[in-house]
Amino acid sequence: MLDSSQVEGLDVTWIPAGDPTPRGEWVALVPLLTRWVGGTELKNLPQLRIVANVAVGFNNVDVVAAQLRRVVVTNTPEVLTDATADLTWALILACARRLLEGVELVRSGQWLGWHPEQLLGLELRGRRLGLLGAGRIGQAVGLRARVFGMEVLYSTRTPKPAFEQQTGANRVELGALFRESDVLSLHVPAVPELQGIINPETLARMKTGAILINTSRGDLVREEALAAALESGHLGAAGLDVYVDEPEIAPRLRAAPRTVLLPHIGSATRDTRRAMAGLAVANVQAVLAGKPPLTPVFR
Ligand code: GLV
Repeated sequence: MLDSSQVEGLDVTWIPAGDPTPRGEWVALVPLLTRWVGGTELKNLPQLRIVANVAVGFNNVDVVAAQLRRVVVTNTPEVLTDATADLTWALILACARRLLEGVELVRSGQWLGWHPEQLLGLELRGRRLGLLGAGRIGQAVGLRARVFGMEVLYSTRTPKPAFEQQTGANRVELGALFRESDVLSLHVPAVPELQGIINPETLARMKTGAILINTSRGDLVREEALAAALESGHLGAAGLDVYVDEPEIAPRLRAAPRTVLLPHIGSATRDTRRAMAGLAVANVQAVLAGKPPLTPVFR
């Protein structure tokens, strides 16, 4: 993802996935989101000054332990906003227009030709897109809703007046968001109080036939409950890019009907991955030069 000029002057060691974090004199760690960096890892690296996570989410880093050891933690916001919002829309469209079922029909050789009632999907125009969370990515998803003629609802702790002005979005209580969204898309971090927010009770509150989209973090969703809501026909479809225990997926969810399941590729474009790696390295360079980090997760 990086060329050598971007890491000039740094002594870089690649730690393969699965290898334990080395003990030693390293001053910076640049983990991918698949690597846990906790108290033990931090203790083994007494010289460590920065953990530059290559992701906007940082639930793979024990931020409290880092704070206690005065280790800076940074993430990679903004550079991945558009790529992730685009993928969210790819999932919305794939679910609403039953893309996978269409692909399977053609590939299986069972397609018998055009039929007026074949694979009828959900018309997006005039329907409601609900955003749980409206940070950078949630807002970028909301902005794209305009061209599809969708009304936008959002639920956040604080109002977002500029976003409302740009999109005509309406801020609603969580209950109304679940009740009124035709498509509900999750854009909150997996902080403890939001883990499992999509559960039997909240799923039951959603409209029959609604679509659930998750490009945020898997821990937000109780996968068994989601599978049950799809099996019963209560939920229209689900488009997921993230899972609780990646790369494992609850077998019942993997087999559930009307799902589009992607392998965590929200930010996976060449440009974005390069920009994420570049930002992580820029954070390392800043901290090692005694300057403030560009994108700290705490101050
Ligand atoms: C990807 O999931 C990220 O948090 O950057």
